[in-house]
Amino acid sequence: MPNAPTAIMPTYGRLPVTFARGEGAILYDTADRAYLDGLSGIAVTNLGHNHPRVTAAVTEQAARLVHTSNLFHIGLQEEAADLLRQATGMENMFFCNSGAEANEAAIKLARRLGHHRQIARPHIIVLDGAFHGRTIGALSATGNPKIREGFGPLLDGFLHVPANELSAIHALGDALADVVAVLVEPIQGEGGVRPLDHHYLQGLRDLCQQNQWLLMFDEVQTGNGRCGSTYVCEQLEIKPDVMLTAKGLGNGLPIGVCMARGEAAQLLGPGDHGSTYGGNPLCCAAAIAVLTTLRDDTVMQRARSVREVLLTALHEAITDSDLIAEVRGRGLMIGIQPRVATKEIVQRGLESGLLINVAGGDTIRVLPPLVMTDEQAGELGAGIANIINDIAEQENAL
Ligand SMILES: Cc1ncc(COP(=O)(O)O)c(C=O)c1O
Repeated sequence: MPNAPTAIMPTYGRLPVTFARGEGAILYDTADRAYLDGLSGIAVTNLGHNHPRVTAAVTEQAARLVHTSNLFHIGLQEEAADLLRQATGMENMFFCNSGAEANEAAIKLARRLGHHRQIARPHIIVLDGAFHGRTIGALSATGNPKIREGFGPLLDGFLHVPANELSAIHALGDALADVVAVLVEPIQGEGGVRPLDHHYLQGLRDLCQQNQWLLMFDEVQTGNGRCGSTYVCEQLEIKPDVMLTAKGLGNGLPIGVCMARGEAAQLLGPGDHGSTYGGNPLCCAAAIAVLTTLRDDTVMQRARSVREVLLTALHEAITDSDLIAEVRGRGLMIGIQPRVATKEIVQRGLESGLLINVAGGDTIRVLPPLVMTDEQAGELGAGIANIINDIAEQENAL
């Protein structure tokens, strides 16, 4: 592990560990120490490390053909799109390489719709606390001023409103004339694993319907089995017009997608958008392996049972139930808000061989892979409780 400055731009506060290999829910560092993976590369390796189906698909495809170009038909892209269509009911897909790019495509779709309607300055409603990515468009849509700060001028055309308040949208008054879409994460991930209220989401669906706005769901983090269904909109029984995903779609291979239906599916034509790598054969082979595994295997059912075992172990091992203010999320997107300072939690987890994360400043974010065993889930839940217990004891001693 390098101590001296490296040739890498220091955009990340990196933890002092380098991983050499992974198997299921376990990562091994370069000294072969095992760590229980409660993070899945931030909701990416949903099927665990070295998943046999994904590994086989990727290695076979790498040996056959990695990349051609979107100048040509790509059979595996068609196949991945068909699987997504079957899983979501969306009509067509634009493939890219990341979550931010999927959001960029959605922003372009929405703006194009506005121009079709003779709206010269189309606006998208976005929520405080939201995270949509780091490119300038996605950053402009992101509702966290700390992340946006220092990168102006950002893009115009976003109306930021508080989450869970339909009245805040109505209060926009005359500005609503230029609105073409609402973009939301059904569960705000980076914001601290905060699910939007179900009735609010239903209200947004109705509002979009009434005004002919696009309801756009950013399922970059919630999607691909993480919450116990292929996409969380299925559990919510709310059908967006545009849906974005990435992260778990390739189980570690970089692939994102912007899916659309209805009017939104007809907005972009040849030359309107593109990506050199987007949906190349290698990444599509990974996505097909992921989507067929989620479809054919029972692994997605693990989201509920792993969550249950983990949280039971957490509650059993916590010395005082008041130390946990709230547990949020769905399936294996778990937010645990403790009543202790969170700044040491990630480091302490690492020291005890547990990979966890803090999101939204005050919330322990746990994103285990679906393949985590009950025993591992119990260990992770108890381990998190012990870290909270230790910090509380230390705080009380001060
Ligand atoms: C909801 C959501 N949207 C978009 C992004 C951006 O994805 P990427 O880092 O792949 O660009 C993220 C990443 O954390 C996310 O959680």
